[in-house]
Amino acid sequence: MAAGTLFQDLGCYGSDVVDLSISSQDFVFLHGCKDGMELGTMHCLATQDPGNLFQYGPRQGNFELCQTLANFLTEEYGHQVSSEHLFITGGSSQGLVLLCNVLFQSGDPVFVADLTGCSLDIFSDLGFKVVSVPSDENGLIVEELDKLLKVHSYRKRPATEKRPFWGFVYLMTIFKNPTGHSLSEERCNALINIFKKHKVLCVCDDTLACLSYAKSNPPFKPAPKRLFGYDTSSTGSEECGNVVVSLGSFSTIFSPGLRIGWLEAPQNVLGHLKNSSFVRHVGSSQHYLSGVMSSVIELGELTKRLSFLKITYHGRLNAVFDALVQHLPKEVKLSKPQGGVFVWLTLPEKLNVNELLKVCREKYNVGFSPGSEFSSTPNKFNNCIRLSIAHYNEKILSSAAERLATAIMERI
Ligand SMILES: Cc1ncc(COP(=O)(O)O)c(C=O)c1O
Repeated sequence: MAAGTLFQDLGCYGSDVVDLSISSQDFVFLHGCKDGMELGTMHCLATQDPGNLFQYGPRQGNFELCQTLANFLTEEYGHQVSSEHLFITGGSSQGLVLLCNVLFQSGDPVFVADLTGCSLDIFSDLGFKVVSVPSDENGLIVEELDKLLKVHSYRKRPATEKRPFWGFVYLMTIFKNPTGHSLSEERCNALINIFKKHKVLCVCDDTLACLSYAKSNPPFKPAPKRLFGYDTSSTGSEECGNVVVSLGSFSTIFSPGLRIGWLEAPQNVLGHLKNSSFVRHVGSSQHYLSGVMSSVIELGELTKRLSFLKITYHGRLNAVFDALVQHLPKEVKLSKPQGGVFVWLTLPEKLNVNELLKVCREKYNVGFSPGSEFSSTPNKFNNCIRLSIAHYNEKILSSAAERLATAIMERI
């Protein structure tokens, strides 16, 4: 299938429109994966025992990858990651679906921040009750979550050995999709207490946590601490054990085509996963590919590629931001994220973003994601826009941002 056709299959536009809703890496980046994979494959085949490599793997995932990945993440996150907490998945979305299937059942509630990049149909298809939690400009409002967990406590079912939590909270605390913001330390600490008080699990999407551009020049500082790192034994009630699972993926830092990722979970959750019938029968995801990825990391190829991605994305973020600041009217609010791939704009309330999108596509050859796509509350965030910097180079982004600003200016 030609690349253009594949992209239409993924729901993207034809080549004339610069579509700033696309959040996957561009083709130039992906060409860069080839060398790393070639080297990794050769190294893996030369160093690993084929009798192990081509066998079914351990339930938790390839041990070599768990170890090299733990070292890599410890360096990138700037916080300790233990290989014993890692579980290899077929990507972060597959990890999420696995947790849903193993630990929860139809009718259980999932609490989701009112601005979320997650496709909520993953949850509704499984029969979960989706409860939307209000957010403000700083992210999820902890007191609102506390109230909603109380309101929905009638949904509590008896905890079973297999399903110890009656519901879960899905969120993103670092360079969040769609706003690019990170949750403050104070809110992260408060959240852990709330999860433990209500005995719910939290599934945190940390797939953008390696993409930090904090500090204006490379080497960049690591991202804020992931929520998993706040969940220490000294926080809150210990009755339900630790309560945070972190989802990670090679899709955002290497290649989405490989469909490989990980989850980082406390032992009390990992035990349930490893002993589930699903993992016993269908587990040990991507064992051979894990061997190759372990070599890619060991050879320094992942670090090399991620450094390139960060420098490139940082340049793109600056280019988009400079163009927007220069050309947007002052009525439009925006703040520069410290990492990730998203920029969030808040336009005056009276402006209808869906109409703007039509004009932008037809007259200015530029597309974006309307804010309402990320909310489950009707008519909310109708005046907001998400832009992605992942898919086009600085020059194209800068010119597209200027055209978008002109279109906005015309309608204010
Ligand atoms: C924020 C975010 N979460 C999840 C994903 C999906 O990851 P995966 O391909 O590992 O399912 C992506 C992919 O780009 C992403 O940007």
